[in-house]
Amino acid sequence: MLQHEKRIRHNNLQQKILSAEEAAKLVQDGMIIGMSGFTRAGDAKAVPLAMAARAKSAPFKITLITGASLGHDIDGILCAAGVVARRLPFQVDTVLRQAINRGDVMFIDQHLSHTVEQMRARQLPKADIAIIEAVAITESGGIVPTSSVGNSASLAMMADKIIVELNMAASPQWEGLHDIYIPAARPGRLPVPVTEVNSRIGMPFIPVRPEQIAAIVITHEPDSPSNITPPDTETGAIAGHLIAFLEAEAKAGRLPHGLPPMQVGIGSIANAVVSGLQSAPFAHMTMYSEVLQDSAFELMEAGKLDFASCCSVTLSEECGRRVYADFDKYRDKIILRPQEISNHPEIIRRLGLITINTALEFDIYGNVNSTHVNGTHMMNGIGGSGDFTRNAFMSVFVTKSLAKGGKISSIVPFVPHIDHTEHDVAILVTEIGLADLRGLAPRERAPRIIENCAHPAFRDRLFDYYQRACRERGGQTPHILEEALSWHSRSLHGEAM
Ligand code: COA
Repeated sequence: MLQHEKRIRHNNLQQKILSAEEAAKLVQDGMIIGMSGFTRAGDAKAVPLAMAARAKSAPFKITLITGASLGHDIDGILCAAGVVARRLPFQVDTVLRQAINRGDVMFIDQHLSHTVEQMRARQLPKADIAIIEAVAITESGGIVPTSSVGNSASLAMMADKIIVELNMAASPQWEGLHDIYIPAARPGRLPVPVTEVNSRIGMPFIPVRPEQIAAIVITHEPDSPSNITPPDTETGAIAGHLIAFLEAEAKAGRLPHGLPPMQVGIGSIANAVVSGLQSAPFAHMTMYSEVLQDSAFELMEAGKLDFASCCSVTLSEECGRRVYADFDKYRDKIILRPQEISNHPEIIRRLGLITINTALEFDIYGNVNSTHVNGTHMMNGIGGSGDFTRNAFMSVFVTKSLAKGGKISSIVPFVPHIDHTEHDVAILVTEIGLADLRGLAPRERAPRIIENCAHPAFRDRLFDYYQRACRERGGQTPHILEEALSWHSRSLHGEAM
């Protein structure tokens, strides 16, 4: 028996093996294609490339729905081949980003918990074909995902046809780590029964009908490694401020049961914060998050993190080698869920999460822009940051006080796009310091944010704006409207902010 045959345990499905090129022919112009993949983990790898190759001689366009971002430049390659007409709910690819900002690709920037819920309610069309990476197919035809669940379960269960990419490079030890739970139909939907970060409430595979599986493509390509930059002085300082604050909160009795479960967003700052927790005086930590990065595994290795729930695992090459060589060690410490469960408002509120996400910029009142450069140009998307922030026990945003080599202040009079309103944002942190906004009115927030978080090079001008706004215009949230976005319009014209 060939190795891949052992991983296709349903008797009748062996005959469905096709090449990536043959499977790609199932995809037709105008189709809605769902694909696995969340933050470079568990993405379909061969069929999308075969689709891009086919489009060169026979152009076609699709709507592409995934969990979140993809690895292996797949978004960029599909976009450059002219295949992507519409894209949701998240991306991080440079080529695709440019096409979105030219208006060539329609990008629907969604809260990551919303997509399949809307699909189930027929507010969004379901996928014609779902292309899902798997580590195995069970005796009943169930799909065992690899390093991410993302939206794969609902995309596959609702699709007319499924193409499975059986990845022989993925460790068979992924099997058993997934917990697939799909909320029931309304009316009569019951509470989602996750009451602890490690609650197991579903099945270890995606239950599909074997006849939905139209093709199985055998692949051998590992996930793209994560591209996190290691902590630097500024990200280290941000981590330091936040950890000192959490320690003070614990001392003040406001974290009575130790550190609550944490959600930590993507990127280098978030990674640095989790790394910093290694030397913090907290034990028995837990995470209820989307993506587990290197730092989560380092925290486990240091004996500080007891359990982590996520919907994807994205590691650097070095960390991946270490973790996958000794994967058994982590089996009872991680669980992978669908993103509508990892990001579920009910569970986030029940567990009482500390949520830590990165802002592009925030304003003097605490509104956060995570997505739109200069208010118009998409960076990546809101991702799960809204799901978590709005429902958090304590919502934190981090960013460096300066961007673009110091030319831009990340603290501005008014953000030109608001992803997270002042009502949802509790704590802001830059390398300069931390602003605790809980219980403060806008007129109290502004001086604290400027004093504690803004870079000294911009502090006086921010104070000047705020004081003139109070004097000249007044109001609950004072602004000089014709000046509020002038910092951005100056930087748009290449002038100093
Ligand atoms: N104005 C303009 N551009 C800015 C900026 C600002 N105030 N601050 C950062 N940028 C640019 C950087 O220059 C960089 O651009 P480049 O790639 O062209 O050089 C880019 O934004 C990314 O910034 P970086 O400092 O590398 O931070 P990051 O990798 O930590 O990403 C976000 C920051 C906000 C883009 C990223 O965290 C994100 O997409 N967040 C939204 C989704 C999210 O929070 N998901 C987590 C939920 S689990």
